[in-house]
This record gives sequence, structure tokens and C-alpha cells, in this order.
Amino acid sequence: MDKIVVRGGNKLEGEVNISSAKNSVLPIIAASILSGDKCVIDNAPMLEDVNVIGEILKSISAKVDINRDNNKIIIDTSSIANCEPDSELVKKMRASFLLMGPMMSRFGSFKISLPGGCNIGTRPIDLHLKGFTALGAKVTIGHGYVKGVADRLIGNNIYLDFPSVGATENLMMAAVMAEGETTIENAAAEPEIEDLGKFLNEIGANVIGAGTDTVRIIGVKKLKGTTHRPIYDRIEAGTFMASAAITRSKIKINGVIEEHLKPIIAKLTEMGVDIKIEGESAIVDATKELKPIDIKTMPYPGFPTDMQAQIMAILCSVKGTSVITETIFENRFMHVSEMKRLGCNIKIDGRSAVIEGVDNLTGTQVKATDLRAGAALILCGLIAEGCTEVTDIYHVDRGYVKIEDKFKNLGADIKRTN
Ligand code: UD1
Repeated sequence: MDKIVVRGGNKLEGEVNISSAKNSVLPIIAASILSGDKCVIDNAPMLEDVNVIGEILKSISAKVDINRDNNKIIIDTSSIANCEPDSELVKKMRASFLLMGPMMSRFGSFKISLPGGCNIGTRPIDLHLKGFTALGAKVTIGHGYVKGVADRLIGNNIYLDFPSVGATENLMMAAVMAEGETTIENAAAEPEIEDLGKFLNEIGANVIGAGTDTVRIIGVKKLKGTTHRPIYDRIEAGTFMASAAITRSKIKINGVIEEHLKPIIAKLTEMGVDIKIEGESAIVDATKELKPIDIKTMPYPGFPTDMQAQIMAILCSVKGTSVITETIFENRFMHVSEMKRLGCNIKIDGRSAVIEGVDNLTGTQVKATDLRAGAALILCGLIAEGCTEVTDIYHVDRGYVKIEDKFKNLGADIKRTN
């Protein structure tokens, strides 16, 4: 199994290019099912999760061509023959649940194994299923599967108890061909949802307000193919901003949409990092002394839970006391015990982590417990004395394109071994 070995101590310099967003491309690939036609995704991130969802689509007879030479994905969903994707593949990735909405909308049914994915809490899908029921579907769970059936879907008003990203996306996709109008209130407003709305409209849907807390979907009869370029990955950009901060370096990050990064930029700025935006690039200067801060993760436009572990890595190196409160997932401090093995001083108190900055970290073997945890451990490795070996790196490969190459280009002493 691959691991990443980092020898800490190098300052970073130069430029890094950000890939397209994993959390945009996965729902968009799922939404291509709706088109029943050929969809092309340009500048697609070549990630393990993208391979997995591609294989899942192939398991229902879609044609999927992932071209690594030109970062293009071509999907033809006209040939889909069944609505029961391969269970072993589905269990590999939680985002497989995003196939439910499109399959129900286009074929009137789905049967899908209860999905797996990152080990960060129980992550129920009740909001998705309640929404499908509101649209007229009959949903049952049993024997490890979720089944949905609907002779026809009828638009309705759906109020989400919590602004779930996945539920908002699934319900948008389920509603595009429903009869009449659907309104999703208390919808999640993440930029990736706006991107999905854009894609859906490109294939002929009528979606209004995606990326705000109220999304209206007016049902249409037929959809078609398109070519789409997803937005840049704000979490990857945030992770590289964090790498400049933890190493007290100055780097340039290309592929930054300022609006999407506001919550991250605000907190790094409060910490004392100087961030200048020039078009779609950010110059991140963390060469001045940094200050401890308090952070609470929140739905967008709040501070993203997907940056919680990386910001914690920085704060472990900042003199003074910082507090991070995780409000989105109930089990997202798995990285803390691994960070402590590197010398970080962190105490967990319920949903909060109290971080006391230390003068230095010392490298050892640590385990990536999930995708962002793995990224955060690599960040710690960049400043730890000696070698830090991050094992179970397949988690990181799910969501970062060639992370070691990008850090190597910035001057880090980092390599992948097995
Ligand atoms: C998406 C992102 C993930 C990110 C998360 C929160 C993708 C592929 N993944 O995951 O990277 O960390 O948003 O920003 O886009 N919940 C329920 N019932 C439901 C659905 C969710 O209780 O039916 C709860 C979850 O358990 C969790 C919270 O809502 O505590 C947030 O989950 P959600 O927004 O749905 O996250 P995902 O879509 O799974």
C-alpha cells in the first residue's frame, strides 16, 4: 500500500496549479445519467474517486472514457441498461448515493447498496430519502440496499432539516424531469451545488437558485448532452494555502475563485497570513508571525469542515491556544491522535479541539484516517524534524491529484513509496 514520506524543514516557494473540484465533478458525472446522451467533462481531476464513479457507471452499461492525457472524461449514458450499480464499487465511495436521484428521475427506479466512504461519522441519508418520498417515490431499505420506485415523480416543496450538500444535489437531480415545480428550502449553498445547477441547465433542465438556500426546479420533458468544465477545487486551494502557512513560506496558487475561498481566506488572514488575489491566482505570504484563532465549521458560506484538519495542522505550530469546533460531522477528529504522535498538543472536549501551539514536531509513521486527515498529516510532515511517513495514502488519492508532485514542485522533500 502506498505511503508518502516527507522530510520536514524546507520552505516552500514557486507556484502550484489547482485541479477541478472533486465535489463538483462527482455529482456532475452522476447527473450525466439524466442526459441519456454524450457528456464531456473538460479539465477533469484525475482522482481515484473519479475512477470509482466511472466504474460504477460502467457497471450499469454507460460508456465512460477517462482520458488521462488531456484530462477529459467522455460519458455516454444512452446505453444504460439497468439501475442496480455494482455493490462492491458502490461501497468504496459514499458519493455513490448521488446516483439515486438521476436513476430515479430517468428510469423510475434504483437499487443501490448502502454506500461506504470516508470514516467520519455515521453520515445518514434520511434527508435524501425523505425528499424522494416527497416527490412521490416509494423508498425501502433492507438487506443492505436502498430501493426506490416511482411511476412518476411530481414536484413538491421540500424543506431540508439540515442543509445537506448531498441531499440538495440528489433532490435537484431527481426533480429535473418531475411534473411541475419543486422547491428545496434550507438547501445547501456550496459552490459545487451552483456548478451542478449550471451543468443541469446546460443539459436542458430548468434550475433556479442553485448555490443559494432556496432552489427551484421546473420539470422538463427531455434532456441532452453537453460539454462542461467544473469549478476549481476550493479545498485543494485551501490546503495549499495551509501549506504556505505551516511552513511560513510565500507561494502563488493558480486556480482560485476568490468568492468560494472567502471563509478560508478570512480565517488565514485573521491568523496573520497575507493573501493577495490577482485574477484567478492567490499570492499567499505567511512569513510574518502567526496568531492563534478560534474556528467553527459551518455549512457554506461558513468555514468548511473539509478544511478543519488542515487548519488544525497550522494551529499546532502557532504559539498560544486555538479552539476548533466541528459542527458538521460528529466524528471528525480522527486525525488528532495521529497528530499527537507527531508532537502536536491537542485536547478534545466534545465537539471542540483545544490546540496549544508547540515549537517543533518530530516525524514518525502516522496513518491517514480519511482524505482530509491525510492531507493534514502531510502538512505536519512539512515542518516535522526528520521523516514523517503517512500510510494509507489511498484516502488522499481519492481527492488530491498527484499531491506529492505538487509539493515537490514547491520545494518540499517528499516522495511516494510502497
Ligand atoms: C459533502 C462533501 C464532503 C463534505 C460535506 C460537508 C461531496 C461528494 N462530499 O458530503 O466532502 O465534507 O459535504 O460539507 O460533495 N446528514 C444527515 N442526513 C442526510 C444527509 C446528511 O443527517 O440525509 C448529515 C450528515 O450526517 C452530516 C451533515 O448532514 O453530519 C452534512 O452532510 P452532507 O452535507 O450531506 O455531506 P455530504 O453530501 O455527505
